[in-house]
Amino acid sequence: MTAQRNVPFFNYPRAYLDDRENLMKIFDDVGHRGAFIMQKDLRDFEANLASYTGANHAVGVANATDGLELAWMAIGLRPGDEVICCSHTMLATAAAIKTAGGVPVPVELGDDGLIDPDAVEDAINPRTVGIMPTQLNGRTCDMDKIMSIANKNRFFVVEDAAQALGSRFKGKHAGTFGNASAISFFPAKVLGCLGDGGGVITNDASLFDKIYQLHDHGRDINGDVKSWGRNSRLDNLQAAILNHNLQSYEKVIQRRRKIASLYQKKLGDLDELQLPPAPDADPNHFDIYQNYELQADRRDELKKYLSEHNIGTLIQWGGKAVHQWERLGFSVKLPKVEKFFERCIMLPMNMFISDDDVSYVCEKIRLFYRG
Ligand SMILES: Cc1ncc(COP(=O)(O)O)c(C=O)c1O
Repeated sequence: MTAQRNVPFFNYPRAYLDDRENLMKIFDDVGHRGAFIMQKDLRDFEANLASYTGANHAVGVANATDGLELAWMAIGLRPGDEVICCSHTMLATAAAIKTAGGVPVPVELGDDGLIDPDAVEDAINPRTVGIMPTQLNGRTCDMDKIMSIANKNRFFVVEDAAQALGSRFKGKHAGTFGNASAISFFPAKVLGCLGDGGGVITNDASLFDKIYQLHDHGRDINGDVKSWGRNSRLDNLQAAILNHNLQSYEKVIQRRRKIASLYQKKLGDLDELQLPPAPDADPNHFDIYQNYELQADRRDELKKYLSEHNIGTLIQWGGKAVHQWERLGFSVKLPKVEKFFERCIMLPMNMFISDDDVSYVCEKIRLFYRG
């Protein structure tokens, strides 16, 4: 048996300490230039983000929640307009629809934990104007199905790609299928900064203009006020950090895919678990494993047992799907999502865990079920 180890779910200090020397150089460089707001690092990052994803345009914003809201505001939701989203997503997805003036309609998930296209079809009614798929856990939905429903019905699509930078479906990047999308750079994201940060990408030039104005007091790229707006800018310092982190991004993704393969290899035979798709399970999907979320029998007992062995796990969104926040006005019942939330748990998945850490986690899980 392996000696006791400590495997936290995510180690926030290490997001800084492991790369301290480089980060200090960035602080110093930005500080010396006094380049705090809307400077070259931000412009470079926007260009890098667009080029990496293959999108025509990118705007750095304060966080992905703002980005999603600004995208829907730019599209122009009217009171009563319904947008269908998955109930297994961060409340931010639904909140963005709501704060932009629409009505979020949460629906069921499919077997891979992402929005179920059949459930989307079932939820369509004369008030529906859009779909907001979440590219959850670093996996892109079957966007052929989602876009075919959207095109047939002339719906808008805003992808919540907060967790999915670099994830692809049939070779096309998450966030580039619909009208616009937002990505999060929260520190624990695969591409994280040292605070809040987000980006919006779009292929639509006129939507880009509107989102750009909305995020900077209504000003266009020349500083001329064209509309009402607000301040939701990505800090230049965070952009400089993101430019730096983007350079090693492919290596980071490969490491996360390797960890997912190890989990699959060491846990794949346990009937008590339902693991997420393995990295090579379907050539149509390239997953970046923002999270490693599985379903487990006796989930709460397993979580407690792992915690007693210094292994951090997390139940996404504090254990509640969007529609389960009844005080926000939801009354729908979604049995598949509800069942999922009795069983889901996320194992450590990040750059700070070693192969030995993964073996330790898997050994403890096997011991829990098989003694
Ligand atoms: C699926 C999803 N949507 C939206 C967000 C919101 O991102 P941010 O924290 O950058 O506002 C997150 C962040 O965790 C997320 O995971």
